[in-house]
Amino acid sequence: MSATINGIDMEWREQGEGAAIVFIHGFPFNSAMWGPQLANLPPGWRGIAPDLRGFGASHGGTEDVYTMELFARDVAALLDHLGEDRVVVCGLSMGGYVTFEFLRLFPERVRGLVLCDTRASADSAEARAGRERQAARVLADNSVTEVIDTMLPRLISMTTRYSQPGVLELTRAMMKEAPPETMARALLGMAARRDSEPLLRNIDVPALVIVGAEDAITSRGQAEFLARGIRGARLETIENAGHLPNLEQPDTFNRILHAFLASLPLSVTAR
Ligand code: MLT
Repeated sequence: MSATINGIDMEWREQGEGAAIVFIHGFPFNSAMWGPQLANLPPGWRGIAPDLRGFGASHGGTEDVYTMELFARDVAALLDHLGEDRVVVCGLSMGGYVTFEFLRLFPERVRGLVLCDTRASADSAEARAGRERQAARVLADNSVTEVIDTMLPRLISMTTRYSQPGVLELTRAMMKEAPPETMARALLGMAARRDSEPLLRNIDVPALVIVGAEDAITSRGQAEFLARGIRGARLETIENAGHLPNLEQPDTFNRILHAFLASLPLSVTAR
C-alpha cells in the first residue's frame, strides 16, 4: 500500500484488523523482513510495516542525513494517515533506534514495546567515524557492495546459514535493493543518533526485549542492559538465531511475540 506521507511516497505492508502493532525494520533492510510476522498475526491485531524513507519501495527525501527522528516522524505520520493513535512498536536494530526516538517524541502513542537485537547507547566516537567513512565510500563508489560484504557474514547464525539458505538470500536481496544514497544517509543518521539510555528508566509501558543467541552485532549483554533498565521488561533469547531472529526462527519469535501481546492490559486491545 502507498500514500504520500511527510512529503514522500511511502510504501507499507499491513495485515489484520484490531489493535495496531507497527514493525520497524533494521538497516539496510525493508518491510519484507517482517513477512513471517505479518502472515501470522494473532486475531484482533493489525500489523503495519513501513518501508522507511528510501528503503524498499518508499521514495527517498532530499535530506543529506536520515536521522532516527526523521524516520520516527515518518512512522507517526503514517499512523496518522491510517487512523492509529496508540500502538505497540516493534523495532529491530536500527528499527529499535527509531523506536526510542518515537518514544521520546510521542510517548503517549506507545502502548507497548518490543525491542529486538538493538541497543540504547549512541555510537562510540570510533564507531561513528567508521560509519562516516563507510557512508563516504558508498557515495563515492555509488555501490552498496561493500556494506553487503561486510555485514552479510555477521547477520545470521551458522545454523541458519546452513539449514535455511533462503533466509540468507532474502537478506541479501533486501540489502541489494537499498540505493547507495539511502544507505549513506541512514549510516550518517545512525552515527548521529543520541544516547537513549537515560530514557529507559522512564519507560512505563510493557516491554519485551528479544535477542538472537548468536547475534554478532548486538550482544546479549546489550539486550540484558535494556531489560534491566526498563521496569518490568522481559528478556527472551532465541537459540540458533543471529541478528534477525524473526526471520531465522520465526515460529519461536512469533510464539514469544504473541504471548507478549496476549499479556497486555485489556485497554491495549479495546478500541
Ligand atoms: C541494523 O541491523 O539495523 C544495523 O546492524 C544497526 C547498526 O548498524 O547499528
